[in-house]
Amino acid sequence: MKLELLKSSFEQISSDLVVVFATKAAAKDTGKESGKKADKKDKEQKPKVTVEGLGKTGTATVTEKIASALEDGSLSASACEFVLFRDAKVAQARHLAVVGLGEVKDITAEVIRQAVATAFTSAKAAKAKSVSFAMDSLAHNSLSPEIVMQAAAEGAALASYSFHEFKSGKKDDGVTTVHFVSTSKNKGQEKGLETATVLAECVNFSRWLGDRPGNRMTPTILAEETAKAAKGTKLKVTVWDKAKIKTEKMNSFLSVSLGSSQDPKFIIMEYKGAAASKKPVCFVGKGLTFDSGGISIKPSGGMEEMKYDMCGGANVIGTMLAIAKLGLKVNAIGLVPATENMPGPSANKPGDIVIARNGKSIEVNNTDAEGRLILNDALVYACEQKPAAIFDAATLTGAMVVALGNIHTGFFTRNDKLAAKVDAAAKSTGELVWRMPLVDFHARDMKGTYADLSNISSGKGAGSATAAAFLENFVDKDIPWAHFDIAGTGWHNGDRFPYNPRKGASGAMIRTFVELAQAF
Ligand code: BES
Ligand code: MN
Ligand code: ZN
Repeated sequence: MKLELLKSSFEQISSDLVVVFATKAAAKDTGKESGKKADKKDKEQKPKVTVEGLGKTGTATVTEKIASALEDGSLSASACEFVLFRDAKVAQARHLAVVGLGEVKDITAEVIRQAVATAFTSAKAAKAKSVSFAMDSLAHNSLSPEIVMQAAAEGAALASYSFHEFKSGKKDDGVTTVHFVSTSKNKGQEKGLETATVLAECVNFSRWLGDRPGNRMTPTILAEETAKAAKGTKLKVTVWDKAKIKTEKMNSFLSVSLGSSQDPKFIIMEYKGAAASKKPVCFVGKGLTFDSGGISIKPSGGMEEMKYDMCGGANVIGTMLAIAKLGLKVNAIGLVPATENMPGPSANKPGDIVIARNGKSIEVNNTDAEGRLILNDALVYACEQKPAAIFDAATLTGAMVVALGNIHTGFFTRNDKLAAKVDAAAKSTGELVWRMPLVDFHARDMKGTYADLSNISSGKGAGSATAAAFLENFVDKDIPWAHFDIAGTGWHNGDRFPYNPRKGASGAMIRTFVELAQAF
């Protein structure tokens, strides 16, 4: 799909469908008026809907259509409302659609991202091949042209993703061209479009890595695809094989792979965009290409979803690709331990003791708590790189899904300054995060009986926090570190975020991680 910014009035552009943005007037403050009568009267009033900055030719048709939709109550311009006027013939477009932004004072980049994604998906359903967005109609409250364009383009490009490579005969028959039409095309808009295009391309690539099933996204394939995607960029990819993982004393990681016929891989991505003296930011992602649970095997219902257990790894790969393709002036390292968790004859058995790269001994009391057994060795390696900060992403615990569902990503850090950076980065990308607790009690519950640590908690509940506390044993105290549990957000089920697939990998935290890479 092509995304283009055109300097023009939207009437000059021919397309199957033109989308105009509409806002609604602020709700009347009825506080001063007395009694219920005033309230009732207000409710009966039609909402005031405004479409800004349209040129001359289109205006009459647009105004007329809007008036009639207001009349029958089908238009209110609330955020993400989409109203299609088939064959409206506005200027050179066959169909007209109005997408709502809500009230001007509430418009953020995320509101725009969601509105454009909704319009895009609806346009696709209406079988439009070319869609133009009349950007002059996009009212907002002092957002820069760059931010507006980036959000709009991300909305369309992220919504365009679908996973259909194994459906016979099905080509992507969706929208082929999206035009953002603006009479005031400027440098900021161009930059916003460029950034959005790169980010969405990398997010969509990660989604594809996640959506591929276990037999078609093994650790070997994941490593190969990473190297292939990095070709032509400044990203250096090194892949350690099983023998190297062993000589590097990543025996905790190695132990998880032993029940599988697929060899593990340790994927190292390095990007140098700043002076060598500048400490890198390090990203670590859980790359479980399939998690059967191992000997502590999972119930079969829904087990197919465990192909997504490498989404943390895929999202770190997406993050590193985006950093490189955007040419950011930062140094960054991405690390992905990749393996299957299977119950083969050499698999970890409950009670087995393994020794991690930093020498700590671990009782494997549940082979299904395997994510922490691969992340720990990667975290030790990350610390050896003397980074400015470490961020990890993992589909680590079912408890995270219970706590926050598929709305927020829970993150854990004891470092308040780092937490503030995470919140600021997530606020700017619109990704929802929520800081979770991590205290000494959680750490205490992870002590082992026969080894330094147990891989499961001796206490009840707080399963995501105790998992974070386990990981903390593998991070140097003086290195700022935050752990992101994306078990609920790494793949998507339902229609919550219009730019995410209804079902499938989401690419959660990639855009926030790219922001964080620039925060040091
Ligand atoms: N990959 C799972 C966590 C998971 C579960 C992610 C459901 C997404 C949806 C992880 O490896 C796991 O199995 N965790 C166990 C840990 C437990 C044994 C301490 C869990 O959460 O049940
Ligand atoms: Mn597991
Ligand atoms: Zn897992």
